[in-house]
Amino acid sequence: MKTLLEQLTRIVGDTGVLSETQELAPFVNDARGRYTGNALCVVRPRSVEEVAAVVACCMEQSVPIQPQGGNTSLCGGSVPLAGERGVILSLSRMRRIREIDAANNSMTVEAGCVLADVQRAAVDAGRFYPVSLGAEGSCQIGGNIATNAGGTGVLRYGNTRENVLGLEVVLPNATVWDGLRALRKNNTGFDLKHLFIGSEGLLGIITAATLKLHPLNAHHIAAWLAPASIDAAVEVLALFQSSLGSQLTAFEAMNAAQLQKVLQHFPETRSPLDAGNPWHILAELGATSDEAGLRDSLENLLQTAISSGLLVDAAVASSEAQRAAMWTIRHSVTEAIGKAGRGIAHDIAVPVSKIPEFLRRVSPALEQRFPGIQIIIVGHLGDGNLHFVPLFTHDAWNAFSDQQAVVDEVHRTTYGVATELGGTFSAEHGIGQYLVAEMRQYKSEVELSLMRSVKQALDPRGLFNPAKVIPQ
Ligand code: FAD
Ligand code: LAC
Ligand code: ZN
Repeated sequence: MKTLLEQLTRIVGDTGVLSETQELAPFVNDARGRYTGNALCVVRPRSVEEVAAVVACCMEQSVPIQPQGGNTSLCGGSVPLAGERGVILSLSRMRRIREIDAANNSMTVEAGCVLADVQRAAVDAGRFYPVSLGAEGSCQIGGNIATNAGGTGVLRYGNTRENVLGLEVVLPNATVWDGLRALRKNNTGFDLKHLFIGSEGLLGIITAATLKLHPLNAHHIAAWLAPASIDAAVEVLALFQSSLGSQLTAFEAMNAAQLQKVLQHFPETRSPLDAGNPWHILAELGATSDEAGLRDSLENLLQTAISSGLLVDAAVASSEAQRAAMWTIRHSVTEAIGKAGRGIAHDIAVPVSKIPEFLRRVSPALEQRFPGIQIIIVGHLGDGNLHFVPLFTHDAWNAFSDQQAVVDEVHRTTYGVATELGGTFSAEHGIGQYLVAEMRQYKSEVELSLMRSVKQALDPRGLFNPAKVIPQ
């Protein structure tokens, strides 16, 4: 143990290794406070060469490695298991923006760059990096790529996968794969970057990425909509998409219960419309020119939707401050749920057209089975992705003698309907340690066996992020 710490310190310097209990705390506890793991130390390399040397050292001594970015995973993917005696490899000291090529609409950044810093650097270069999510002030590009993060821009710009052109990865055998190509076309055998995007730290350490940039929208208009029902919300989405095309950049939904939790726990927030409306949509439009045209199109659409009864009400942000206030509400949802009680989180997706049926089948079933439960819903409606969170008060939760049985039953009901409707039990957050049992239940043996073969080929000793994602 001493020799391992000494060897790691020799590689990354004195300040690069943390091993005191209080220093480890932010790295071994997860963002939701649901998982606590153990680790020998945290090691924080400064370069790809140091990452490779750390990996070589750990592999030689058969020490497990837990890759970690901003530690904002919502599925326990970024913290080691309890009792694990491995090393957390944090990318937090690899924060360099290596290159921005505005003419090629690309930028190359180190994996530890915080998402918000990447977004800002793109804007400074007159371009736009479109991945955006509530944790953007602390999550890292490496973590976004390792989880193929979604967020609020997927409707227009795709998931992280669609915004990565190339990667640099340290493999479990300590070799470096330099795949930092800034190309839109490159059909030269398997496109290996896709193996690592969404691999949740099981196949390699992402140390840098070349990202795709987009034109910077000069104009944004946000609107808060109150649809008459969830069916109406889906119709309004179709209306907006057919009229606005790629000018529609976000279409985010929350139910009244979710909005109420935000208003209650963040007293500085104000609902743009009557908070008692059953559903709330934050829609955003973006365009590189012609703000007046954009505003006219939106106002015409809103009039159509209100006169046909699809919308009960609508408010268009008239200033940047109002737009920001709408997004503050949207980005406060996770924290508000955390303060409100014990939620059982689901990150499901179904085809957008099936969302009303999903809700009609699941919500009443759970409300009947667990009287007093509150159904909190927030999500990326435009992507068919809902964070469906049945919530118990702390007292109700503590009264259950077998809490795991409750979680299992709620999961079974929710995932059962989602999969019957052609959906998924994990749309954007990934599997981590939260959904390993669901992998066994809902993925086919063919898929699991292919995943095991890939893992075996790259990490035959299973030392990268052990016991996550793939059921043994
Ligand atoms: P971590 O949490 O540190 O790690 C996540 C996984 O990636 C782990 O398995 C880890 O081992 C692996 N990993 C991290 N870095 C590397 C690397 N360099 N190389 C290899 N593996 C690595 N997610 C969404 O998709 N959409 C959302 O809208 C969204 N909103 C969120 C809002 C809040 C308030 C919070 C707390 C989280 C949200 N998330 C969301 C989840 C989370 O922020 C994302 O999954 C994010 O991409 C994780 O990045 P991270 O740097 O924190 O990674
Ligand atoms: C969001 C996170 C929970 O959409 O994914 O806010
Ligand atoms: Zn989300």
